[in-house]
Amino acid sequence: MTGRIIGLGSYLPPRLLTNDDLSKMVETSDEWITERTGIKQRHIADGIEDKASTMACKAALAAVEDAGIDPSEIDLIVAASTTPDLVFPSIACCVQRAVGADGCACFDVNSACPGWVAAYNTVQGFIESGNSKCALVVGAEMLSNYVDWEDRGTCILFGDGAGVAVLKAVEDHPSNRFIMKASAKRGDCLHCETMKQPKRMDEEGFIKSTNMFMAGREVFKFAVTEVPALIIELSEKYGFDLNDVDYFVLHQANQRIIEAVSKRLDQPLEKFPMNIQNTGNTSSASIPILLKEMKDDGRLTPGKKIVFTSFGGGLTWGANYIEY
Ligand code: UT7
Repeated sequence: MTGRIIGLGSYLPPRLLTNDDLSKMVETSDEWITERTGIKQRHIADGIEDKASTMACKAALAAVEDAGIDPSEIDLIVAASTTPDLVFPSIACCVQRAVGADGCACFDVNSACPGWVAAYNTVQGFIESGNSKCALVVGAEMLSNYVDWEDRGTCILFGDGAGVAVLKAVEDHPSNRFIMKASAKRGDCLHCETMKQPKRMDEEGFIKSTNMFMAGREVFKFAVTEVPALIIELSEKYGFDLNDVDYFVLHQANQRIIEAVSKRLDQPLEKFPMNIQNTGNTSSASIPILLKEMKDDGRLTPGKKIVFTSFGGGLTWGANYIEY
């Protein structure tokens, strides 16, 4: 048995922060942000109605509806988040309560931006070993609560949101094909301390936080080197041709990174869907949010061959080759 995605759901909080809004907070401009990242706006959670856990619940309810399943069928929920609003219970437990799947196994994983990829592969392990038949894979982030709103090098990148996939055990479907990696000795270029005090960005002002550190150029170099290498390694390991892949769904971190990967793989940019212009970098939520958008606009149809890949703090990176 292998898990097949039978439903997708996402949630983006209503408040928008545009590049022009940011230029009133730090010394930057719409032109600089657009040229260097491709981002035009990002969604920002209010920290009251919308937090990582509540956004996860909203996306999960949408995913369950999309899948057309009864919540009692769910036997496992794994959530990825680097920005949970609770130390415990886990976001997965919050989701269980919201969707009404009492009794199923629930836990969270943290692998920074590739967290959803890690959660997906964990769930596939449960399914392939016969321990799950129907599971939710959640990615939910409220980065706005952690970024330093006075650091123009990082605060322009991130946005909030959540995305969820429903995986169902099926026969006659390719088994899970993936590679995951980490290099902790190279991890100093991207890290974030736990919050000591709750800090929230509100309508009136932006509270300084010094929790996040990112050496952008170093992370950029890591991404444009390791991501194409990983995709090539994945194709060699599982014996598929990159020309047969319909879409490369990359973590939405920077449009220039995506363009560089397309070039290095010699694959047309049209095969690299993007929504970063509207969402910014939503860390572990970015892949399921994008998959949901592709399903809604008709690009993601049964049988489509997809490579999804993510990279981030750790350093960590991972990629999957799936048939939708
Ligand atoms: O999920 C993974 C998380 N992280 C990433 O994927 C980040 C990957 N890295 C990046 O996306 C890019 O490195 C950034 C978008 C963060 C920065 O772009 P860059 O082209 O690497 O710029 P830079 O950091 O080398 O800075 C170039 C210049 C500097 O000025 P000087 O020293 O040349 O005078 C910066 O001070 O741009 C300046 N700068 C800005 N100017 C206007 C940095 N941030 C800004 C800004 N607005 N927001």
